[in-house]
Amino acid sequence: MTKAFTIWLTGIPGAGKTTIARELVEVLGPEIGSLAHLDGDDIRRDALYTLGFGREDRDTNIRVLAYVARTLNLHGTPAVVAAISPYAETRLEARKMIDQFVEVHVECPVEVCIERDPKGLYKRALAGEIPNLTGLNDPYEAPLDPEIRVATATESASDSALQIIEALRGLGHI
Ligand code: ADX
Repeated sequence: MTKAFTIWLTGIPGAGKTTIARELVEVLGPEIGSLAHLDGDDIRRDALYTLGFGREDRDTNIRVLAYVARTLNLHGTPAVVAAISPYAETRLEARKMIDQFVEVHVECPVEVCIERDPKGLYKRALAGEIPNLTGLNDPYEAPLDPEIRVATATESASDSALQIIEALRGLGHI
């Protein structure tokens, strides 16, 4: 492996970011020694629990995730970050912080995510109980030029993970 890198998975809720991150840890981790998984859900639950879902708080979340990923990378550990990261400008900040940044758009039409609704969030938002659910009634700025795109409506999470691994080889990260 060359320099430690960060795979940054961005996409709307239910697109499959966390599942793909877990697949990557399982499949790619052993090949490269270790791969740290940082997840928006986890950091919000365990550390940043005072943050909400307004722009400022989402941006803080992304900056902290980027900082931790950068620190891991500087110490030789590759990382995969799974977070909605809805704002292009804030993702650009993360890109600037992290030397070897690989942005992956985990693409899935919102209709499909509404069908899946693994956490029941869309149901609650459609019932008016959540005012700012990304993709439904809060913005998601899709990346215009990500290093990698995967389409989870038409392929499994493990296929997406394999595609990402192949792309990482192509880009010379592994
Ligand atoms: S981000 O916008 O700051 O990048 P992040 O990925 O950390 O979001 O957290 C998203 C998770 O928070 C979702 O997986 C979901 O479980 C939960 N969540 C609760 N309310 C919202 C909301 N209004 N918008 C998006 N996610 C929400």
